[in-house]
Amino acid sequence: MQQPEHISIPQGPVHIRSLLGRGKSAYSWLGSLGGREVVCKVMHKEDCPYYSFEDEKTRLEERDYHHLRDAGIPVPDLLYIDHENNFLLKEYIPGITADRLIAEGLPPRPILWQLFDMASRCRQRGWNIDYFPTNFVISGERLYYVDYEVNPYDARWSLEQWGLYYWANIAGMRAMIAGGSMALLNTSPDSGMPIREPFEALLRCWREEYR
Ligand SMILES: Nc1ncnc2c1ncn2[C@@H]1O[C@H](COP(=O)(O)OP(=O)(O)O)[C@@H](O)[C@H]1O
Ligand SMILES: [Mg+2]
Repeated sequence: MQQPEHISIPQGPVHIRSLLGRGKSAYSWLGSLGGREVVCKVMHKEDCPYYSFEDEKTRLEERDYHHLRDAGIPVPDLLYIDHENNFLLKEYIPGITADRLIAEGLPPRPILWQLFDMASRCRQRGWNIDYFPTNFVISGERLYYVDYEVNPYDARWSLEQWGLYYWANIAGMRAMIAGGSMALLNTSPDSGMPIREPFEALLRCWREEYR
């Protein structure tokens, strides 16, 4: 997808400045709307040409956004949603994404405790969120979940058994940011499963401290 110059919504034109990220389902653009920084997430179907589910995707994200808000998980405000044209607009959270923070050294404890708190709120409700660090922004002292994706709880994709290993893997995050390689993060290229063994002791330590 080429960078659009602007995207029109009833409140006015959103001027698009740069690409923040391209995920499995969307392009997220940083833009401005009347002087305010916003994120415009435009759904795509590039990975799945034979199956069109994009208008589903904005509906799912809208539903998940309300669920997360109700559960007290810090997420950016949803500013506008267009199901027909498959995009949404949300508040931009200024700060550093967790993958970059981790690449600089282990995340500070107060940030981890906020992550654990989010996971426990989700767990109580039978949900998982996507605990991969690129989905979190640290703004000031506060941790935000900037993706709106919520899935039914499955232990295999929980913070405990899956996501937290990425938050401990400094070298892996550095390599991912430097060249996009997941080789030091995952057990094999297609497994989607984190390398665990070198981090077990640290994770045990974090869990005990959190209690
Ligand atoms: N509200 C936001 N504030 C700051 N950065 C954001 C925001 N929303 C998204 N991003 C950045 O854009 C990236 C992609 O957005 P995300 O909603 O996670 O899309 P995807 O579903 O494609 O993973 C994120 O990893 C994050 O770096
Ligand atoms: Mg994401």
